[in-house]
Amino acid sequence: MARILTGIQSTNVPHLGNILGAILPAIELSKNSNNESLFFIADLHSLTSQKNAQARKDSVNSVAATWLAFDFDTEKNIFYRQSKIPEVCELTWYLNCFTPFPMLANAHSFKDKSDRLKEVNSGLFTYPVLMAADIILYDAQFVPVGKDQIQHIEMARDIAAKINHEYGKDIFTLPEGKIDSNVMIVPGIDGQKMSKSYNNFINIFLPEKELLKVVKTIETDSTPLEDSKNFETCNVFNLYKLIASENQIDEMKNNYRNGGYGYGHAKQALYEALISKFESPRKKYSELMANPELIEERLLIGETKARKIAQEKLELVRSVLGF
Ligand code: ADP
Ligand code: TRP
Repeated sequence: MARILTGIQSTNVPHLGNILGAILPAIELSKNSNNESLFFIADLHSLTSQKNAQARKDSVNSVAATWLAFDFDTEKNIFYRQSKIPEVCELTWYLNCFTPFPMLANAHSFKDKSDRLKEVNSGLFTYPVLMAADIILYDAQFVPVGKDQIQHIEMARDIAAKINHEYGKDIFTLPEGKIDSNVMIVPGIDGQKMSKSYNNFINIFLPEKELLKVVKTIETDSTPLEDSKNFETCNVFNLYKLIASENQIDEMKNNYRNGGYGYGHAKQALYEALISKFESPRKKYSELMANPELIEERLLIGETKARKIAQEKLELVRSVLGF
């Protein structure tokens, strides 16, 4: 039985990039009867950037509702909030004391964030250590993530190996990152990688009118309506091809080639494809958000299971370290 683990930070509502790039591939993996999946909401990590308490609570609910709206099986698997398993914080401290300072200082994600952000706090700096604790506390073997997180998984592996080596015991399982090669980087409305931090994302759970409004803001060039257009470089087409059927994609390609088809038409087609593909998750998501007690119920079950694993592991770690 392979143990799969992944987390999504609770900042904002998960966007199309998070859903196609992380949530759906993880749910697919979790369906394999040989796998046990631990999927959690990284609410402690969100404190590095999000300081507003209500916004965090709302986001925890919306991240949880997203997993549930896409039918993550919480009976077979383990679904929880990171902060409800306090053992992870204690383990983070231990791991900090084995993490070389330059490893953190040279992390791509830290360098990138510290160049861009006004506030660079130490939580941001030690972010990969908490992430390592998230993973090795549960002896996760495979961690499905996007390319941008691979370095963090390697750090988790290095820290775990260092402690195993130092104490001459296999205390921790060495995790491996799992990138689905079919999963692409989902572009945002400006053509850059879709990201909360670039504010270029599509929230598929918006009410219809608002969703259409966002789709209409996708950046396009100024080729006149009657001219033939290049679909390969078009942001609308590049999103459409990720969610439409083969036939629909071919049809749009032809429309672009033939001319007489404007970006407005393409945007309308993209909007309709979004509504049709996500009809059921959109419905489930609104029901859950209107009844947060349904979300709470599912999380509490997962947290009891997660806590048991965490407590056992931490007892071992404490004894090995002499506490
Ligand atoms: P954001 O960049 O919006 O802050 P996160 O860093 O919280 O997103 O990413 C959460 C998960 O979603 C990660 O596994 C990440 O690789 C994946 N992900 C984020 N944006 C995209 C995207 N545009 N395309 C594919 N996967 C993405
Ligand atoms: N850092 C991850 C991200 O931003 C979220 C995360 C936190 C995570 N802890 C994790 C992912 C453990 C996988 C495993 O996407």
